[in-house]
Amino acid sequence: MEPPRAGEVLVLFGITGDLAKKMIIPALYRLVRRGELTVPVIGVALTDWDDDRLRAHLADCVRAASGRSGGEVDEEALERLQRSTSLVAGDYTDPAVFTRLADAITEHAGPTAFAVHYLAVPPALFGTVADGLAGVGLHTRSRLVVEKPFGRDLASARALQALLAKHYPEDRIFRVDHFLGKEPVEDLLVLRFANTLLEPLWDRQWIDRFEVTMAEDFDVADRGSFYDAVGTVRDVVQNHLLQVLAYLLMDAPLSDAADDQRDAKARLLRAVRRLDPAEVVRGRYDGYLDTPGVASGSTTETFVAATFHVDDWRWAGVPVHLRAGKALPDTVLDVVAVLRPPPRALFSGGHAAVQPDRVRLRLQPRAGITITLLAKQPGQGDIPTEIPLSVDFREVLGPVHAPYERIFGDALAGDPAHFARMDTIEQAWRIVEPILDPGIAPQPYARGSWGPEAAERLPGPAGWVTLPPAWTEAPAPRDTAGGTSATGPAGTGAARPATEGALTR
Ligand code: BG6
Repeated sequence: MEPPRAGEVLVLFGITGDLAKKMIIPALYRLVRRGELTVPVIGVALTDWDDDRLRAHLADCVRAASGRSGGEVDEEALERLQRSTSLVAGDYTDPAVFTRLADAITEHAGPTAFAVHYLAVPPALFGTVADGLAGVGLHTRSRLVVEKPFGRDLASARALQALLAKHYPEDRIFRVDHFLGKEPVEDLLVLRFANTLLEPLWDRQWIDRFEVTMAEDFDVADRGSFYDAVGTVRDVVQNHLLQVLAYLLMDAPLSDAADDQRDAKARLLRAVRRLDPAEVVRGRYDGYLDTPGVASGSTTETFVAATFHVDDWRWAGVPVHLRAGKALPDTVLDVVAVLRPPPRALFSGGHAAVQPDRVRLRLQPRAGITITLLAKQPGQGDIPTEIPLSVDFREVLGPVHAPYERIFGDALAGDPAHFARMDTIEQAWRIVEPILDPGIAPQPYARGSWGPEAAERLPGPAGWVTLPPAWTEAPAPRDTAGGTSATGPAGTGAARPATEGALTR
């Protein structure tokens, strides 16, 4: 296979949309500021703006994002972004738009320039755009980058893929899952495979179960019509959380190369059993039905808790309990490996009362690791008591880049490692398919609770493991905004404070 070509021009379909405004343009500005985006940017949109209006739009987006993160705008960098950006206006169904786009590419980057086409438009338009590009021959020298959601189920994902595959081979289709652009998510691989401490423990012999929590303390706010058509399973489980699960459980890849990593992920996902509705609790927070845009009689879930089983040699018999939802008590993404108890309880007086050892990998808002061990309580007798060994990565290592900056950097460079390959998307749809659209109302839960009561006991009678105090007491700044969806970006809710600093944890 030929090495990927670097993008010589970035084409942004949907430059006037909400996703571009909140996430993409601020990320491009930060890349320009660091000198990492030097190619021309051509926006494509229905709205016809002159140069001044386009420049003002870019400035508005950058200033709003900087205002949210409390940062200063680098006027010189903004000016560079404005100078390098132009607009082609028109309806995507009109072939003339693509002729004008081809002319603009020639004008700004040359007649043979390799383009990266970023589709921040509703998925229903992906095929139309791919056809339009092919109609003027641009498909032979470009890469397509598409936003989530990729389909609504296995069949629609395959149908969408067929539309793109008419013109683009797999190695030139980059499917965005912004969780793959999060450094703490990728760090799961480094923590697991750059060390020898964890990996010997990481199997059925030592691990009793995993618990994965993705909680958000805000509701769907002004994203009602987007969210109601999607629900928690499609919004964050099928994509983000199954990618996290794959990093957490997969075997070591043959190398750090993109396809070796993606092969290892695909193999793991193939081993994950389809969800059994009997091991799933769907919930809906009180008041959801009053949200503007939500259909009356909606049965969409805003919370899900589910048990996954991995039918392979390493994980047979080790359940993975996962919960995700809106309007929960906290905003957090973390993974807990609960270890098996020692074969004999040698120390009386308390051993039975404490929880087993845990390894907690915290991905956001404040990435870090806590290993909970038992040590002797001072005083008479051998009474074990818990001690958390904790590291906050930002304090030790400093801040990291936001997901969208990495996504654009990689898309331009042609590095597919942090994009979802089609086989993993298909596997993910296969796994969640039994719980999509059951057509019955989810169980109610109070805002600020951990979901319906039935979910509390999903991992067993003792419930989910509790947070060690070190985590709950620490003031936790939020991670960089990263919600993705061309049709309904996250971070638009009033209840959700957006932080878009260039570097963050
Ligand atoms: C988005 C979902 O893809 O991810 C949102 O559409 C969710 O509903 C968001 O809030 C979470 O992303 P992050 O980066 O803010 O944790």
